[in-house]
Amino acid sequence: MKICMIGSGYVGLVSGACFSDLGNTVTCVDINKDIISNLNKGIVPIFELGLQELVIRNLKQKRLFFSNDVSNSIKRSDIIFICVGTPTKKNNNADLKYVYNVVKKIKSNLNKYKIIVTKSTVPVTTGDKIEKILNTKYNKNKFDVVSNPEFLREGEAIRDFQYPDRIVIGTNSHKANKIMKNLYLPLIKKGSRYINTSRRSAELIKYASNAYLATKITYINEMANICEKLNIDVHDVATGMGLDERIGSRFLRPGPGFGGSCFPKDTRALISTSNKFNTNLSIVKTVIQSNDNRYKLLINRISKILKNKFKNRKITFLGVTFKAGTDDMRESPALKLIPKLLKKGAIINYYEPTGSKKEFISKKIMCNSNIHDACKNSELIIIHTEWNEFKQLNFKKINKNKNLKVFDMRNLYSPSEMLKSKIKYFGVGR
Ligand code: UGA
Repeated sequence: MKICMIGSGYVGLVSGACFSDLGNTVTCVDINKDIISNLNKGIVPIFELGLQELVIRNLKQKRLFFSNDVSNSIKRSDIIFICVGTPTKKNNNADLKYVYNVVKKIKSNLNKYKIIVTKSTVPVTTGDKIEKILNTKYNKNKFDVVSNPEFLREGEAIRDFQYPDRIVIGTNSHKANKIMKNLYLPLIKKGSRYINTSRRSAELIKYASNAYLATKITYINEMANICEKLNIDVHDVATGMGLDERIGSRFLRPGPGFGGSCFPKDTRALISTSNKFNTNLSIVKTVIQSNDNRYKLLINRISKILKNKFKNRKITFLGVTFKAGTDDMRESPALKLIPKLLKKGAIINYYEPTGSKKEFISKKIMCNSNIHDACKNSELIIIHTEWNEFKQLNFKKINKNKNLKVFDMRNLYSPSEMLKSKIKYFGVGR
C-alpha cells in the first residue's frame, strides 16, 4: 500500500519505518527541512533503540522515503496518517492547530479516495470535526476518517509496533476497515488482536488506557508511601497484587512519579474533555494532583536523609530523563527535584547515558561523561532512572566516602544486600 505519514516526529517516524518494513511504500513528511534532509541520509533525530537500522534498511530497499512536499505526498498515497504533535495549551486543552493545518492540506489535495487516519492523540470527537471539514468540499465516498491510536512506549517503540497487544481501528466504514485490516495483516497473523470500534470509542480508548496506566502507577506510589511508614516492602505488595490476573503485575513499579510526553499531557486533556461534556472524572483529577505533588514527598525524604543540611553538599543524579531508554526530558521528575535541591544550597552533578541536557545549564550543575566522575566525593547518589548500567554498581569503588548515602528511586538494589555492604541505602516504599 502507498502510505503517507504527516509529521516525522516520534510517532510518524517509528510507525512509518515499521510500515515500510512490512513491505509498504511509505513517505514520511515533515515541514522541517533539516529533519528531512538528515533522514534522507539515514540520520535519525530521536533516540530510539533499533530505529536508525530500520530506517537505513528500508531507505536502501526504496520502500521508505522522506519529503518536505506535503501536497504531492498526499496525492500519491492511499492512506494518510496524521502524526503531528498535540501539545497541551495553557488551559490544559490539547492544541489541535497542527492537526487542522494537515487537514487543510489534505482538503486541497484529495485527488482520489483516501483513508485519513488520526494517529496523533486527539480528543474524542476530533474525527467528527475532520470529517465535517472535508465534507464541505467532498462527497462522503471520496474519503473515510479513521482513528487508529498508537500504544508505543519510548525506548520500546519498535517492539511495541511489531508485537502490539491490540490494534484498534475506529471507523463505521466497511471499506476503510477492510483496508486497514489488510494493512495490519502481518501483525494480526503473528497473533495481535484487531478490534474495530466506532471512531469515538477508538479516540477514548487511547485516553482511557493512558489515564488508567497513570492511575496504576500513582496507586502503587501511594501504597509505597504507606509501606514506608509500616516497614513493609512495596514490592511484596506489588507482587501479591499483580499475581491476581484481574490486576496484573505490569506498571506496578513505584518511582519518582510518571513523566514523559504522554501521561501528564493526556490525563490533563482528558479532564478538559470531561469538563466540556459535563462529567466529573474525579479519579483522574486525583491522579494528576498526586503525581504533581510527588516531588514534595521525595524532597522531604532527601531532607531526612541529609539531616536537613544541603548547603554545598554534593548530590549526584544517575539519569535525568523521565525514564530509561530515552533522551526525552519532557515532564521528567528531575526537572522539579533538581531546582528545589539547588535552591536549598546543594551542588548537583549528574551522569546521563544520553548526554548533557540543555535544561540543566547552570553554574551549580555539572554534567559528567561517566558514572565514576559523577559520583566521586558525592554525599548522596540518587538513582533517578532504571538504565541497565545503573543496576550493578560497586558503590564502594566509585565513592570512597564512608558516609555515602544512596537514594534509589527505582528500587534497583536489594536493601539487605546493601545493608551487608554497609551502604546507607534508601529505596522507595521499603
Ligand atoms: C506511554 C504508554 O505506555 C504507551 O502505551 C503510549 O503509547 C505512550 O505513552 C503514548 O501515549 O504515546 P511512554 O510515555 O513512552 O509510553 O512511557 P511509559 O513506559 O509508559 O512510562 C511513563 C512514565 O511512567 C515514566 O515516567 C515511567 O518511569 C513511569 N512508570 C512506568 C513508573 O513509574 N512505574 C511503572 O511501573 C511504569
